[in-house]
Amino acid sequence: MDRLRIVGGNPLFGSVEISGAKNAALPILFASILSKQKSIIKNVPLLADINTTLKVLDSLGLKTLFKLDENTMEIDGSSLNAHEAPYELVSTMRASVLVLGPLLARKGIAKVSLPGGCAIGARPVDIHLMALEKLGATFVIESGYIEGKAPNGLRGAKINFPFPSVGATENTLMACVLAKGKSEIHNVAREPEIVDLAIALRSMGAKISGEGTSVIYVEGVESLHAMNHRVAPDRIEAATFLCAGLMTKGKVTVNGISAEFMTSALDFLTQAGAKISDTPTSITAEYVKELSPLIITTEPFPGFPTDMQAQFMALLTQANGNSIISETIFENRFMHVAELIRLGSKIKIKGNEAIITGPVQLTGAKVMATDLRASACLIIAGLAAKGETFISRVYHLDRGYEQIEMKLTKLGAKIFREKEK
Ligand code: UD1
Repeated sequence: MDRLRIVGGNPLFGSVEISGAKNAALPILFASILSKQKSIIKNVPLLADINTTLKVLDSLGLKTLFKLDENTMEIDGSSLNAHEAPYELVSTMRASVLVLGPLLARKGIAKVSLPGGCAIGARPVDIHLMALEKLGATFVIESGYIEGKAPNGLRGAKINFPFPSVGATENTLMACVLAKGKSEIHNVAREPEIVDLAIALRSMGAKISGEGTSVIYVEGVESLHAMNHRVAPDRIEAATFLCAGLMTKGKVTVNGISAEFMTSALDFLTQAGAKISDTPTSITAEYVKELSPLIITTEPFPGFPTDMQAQFMALLTQANGNSIISETIFENRFMHVAELIRLGSKIKIKGNEAIITGPVQLTGAKVMATDLRASACLIIAGLAAKGETFISRVYHLDRGYEQIEMKLTKLGAKIFREKEK
């Protein structure tokens, strides 16, 4: 198994290109199931989760070709001949559940292994199933699998989400585009990745409006043609690099993304004392003075993203005073705290609140990555720590950050991937 070794204390300066967003690419790749033609999807990041998605699509009979040098994926939907996402794949990536909507819409049948718990919480799929039932699907849960059927096709409906779940919004949207008649989906997620999915679906001929607001309207169509789409930039990757720059008292520019994708994170960085500037296609964060503490609550978009919570926690170990981070989206997303404490942080947890006292001089240690964003948080901390930090279980990181060591090295970090000793 690989681990990362970081020699801390080198300020980061320079610019990095931001990759396509993992969380936009995943549903968009699954949306290719909806068409019998060959879809072309550009700016797909080269990540472990994308490989898993390819395996799921392959297992459904689709022909996939990933042109690695161009980050372009070709998916031929004409050969769809199966309807099951197996346990082995769903257990490595729960987003595989996103085959449900497209398969029910195109084939009227779908079988998906029930996603188990994961490091950051139980993460049920009840909202996905409720919405698909409203469209006429029926489900049986047996032997660890969810099997859905809609033998007479799906019918448009008015659906009201109890919570703006990102995945449920995506699954429902992908089902509605081929359902007969009109659908109205209320209290949906408004994340930029939902907007990108709607744009991708429209490139196939889907009739969708309202994405990015809390109500999405869909008018079902008979069939969809091939998709031609370029995946939007990864706002979480971008914010992670900006935090890394500030953590090391440097100045980092992220290219290929505009500030509108990440207003909340940028507002908090400004509030903490960073100097933020932007152009339509780049954002720069510069360390100009000691950071001030923050009070942050994670919320659905446009609120502060739970996927940036761990990275901000690392940063706030350097702010002067007590910061409070409340996690409201996932019930078990403070696993990185114990590891940050191993690096010398002063953090106390009370229920879903973490109180971070800074500034502290972090010192390198051996730590363990527990999930994707926790890995990024430990890298950020390691970059500012005195001495060497060793991060094990980096396979979590490889699920969601494309070439992170190369990008950080270009900015001046001393970060190395080596075999676990
Ligand atoms: C997506 C993102 C993930 C991000 C999360 C929240 C992808 C591939 N993943 O995950 O990186 O952290 O949004 O921004 O895009 N819930 C239910 N029932 C459901 C569905 C969700 O109770 O049927 C709960 C979950 O357990 C969780 C909360 O709702 O506590 C948010 O989940 P959701 O928005 O669905 O996140 P994901 O789509 O899983």
